[in-house]
Amino acid sequence: MDATRTASVEEAAAALGAGRLVILPTETVYGLAADASNPGAVAAIFEAKGRPRFNPLISHVADLEAAERIAVFDIRARRLAERFWPGPLTLVLPVRADTPVCDLARAGLETVAVRVPAHPLARAVLQAFGGPVVAPSANRSGRPSPTTFADAVEETGAATAAALDGGPCEVGLESTVVALLDEARLLRPGAVTRAEIEAEIGPLAEAEADARRSPGRLARHYSPKAPVRLDATAPQPGEAYLAFGPGEHRWNLSPAGDLRQAAARLFAYLREADRTDPTAIAVAPIPHEGLGEAINDRLKRAAGYVG
Ligand code: TXA
Ligand code: MG
Repeated sequence: MDATRTASVEEAAAALGAGRLVILPTETVYGLAADASNPGAVAAIFEAKGRPRFNPLISHVADLEAAERIAVFDIRARRLAERFWPGPLTLVLPVRADTPVCDLARAGLETVAVRVPAHPLARAVLQAFGGPVVAPSANRSGRPSPTTFADAVEETGAATAAALDGGPCEVGLESTVVALLDEARLLRPGAVTRAEIEAEIGPLAEAEADARRSPGRLARHYSPKAPVRLDATAPQPGEAYLAFGPGEHRWNLSPAGDLRQAAARLFAYLREADRTDPTAIAVAPIPHEGLGEAINDRLKRAAGYVG
């Protein structure tokens, strides 16, 4: 593909229809998109990312009505969808028997992850295409998610027939993932916070260590090449430093201590710092409240602490 040019919405929808892959901007991170009903196209995604096939994909749709054609919604699911869609929330629900989403996209599970993204270009493509679109983050497996067009093209652009430039991603972290199977469980923290979800449907259970129930929770995820050192109040010689709070630094996640700004910058700064070949990337302490839960989750994975 011509990675220097952004495709039109029509070209992107046509490429999806032809079973090809597309770089698709969303408000969270850039996605590598394919027709969710086409096993050949979905297989090409696993191939392009080097992603293990036991790790299922999120199906993206234009609205709640389209989501109800692929998954079974209970009262909790409808409540969260009405409150937070379009937006950075993914629901893991029982799959409908007549779902158009192919088995491979669900890694053979009886559940399916669905989300209605808010980015205007993602919405336009979903509307033009008409069916569900799987879109994992557009990085190669185990690397930080791309939050800019250039980073997405660099990661997986070679495998695509079209790439859409939607500017830098506003949220910068992948969607919050909530499973509503028996108990409501937080599988991945994100910009829709634990407190916001609990305000709608009551207490959330913790994600299980059982990898079959939350297959995305693999060790050393979102990793740059350099080792990552957390809770660093200052850098050691040779280290790149991601600061947070007042102070002059090349990479300050937020001089004002704003978690939204820090989330939006996190993956782009990890990538930029990594390109300078530091001995390590040291990261300042980040508060754990609200959006801080998701930021600290991604940082722990980048550092390889979480199994
Ligand atoms: O913000 C996002 O969600 C981005 C943008 C592009 O939409 N997409 C994204 O996809 O982050 P991906 O594939 O990188 O992460 C999907 C996560 C994985 O952790 C996966 O294991 C989990 O969702 N997941 C998908 N289907 C699931 C299922 N049926 N049960 C449990 N977890 C599931
Ligand atoms: Mg990912």
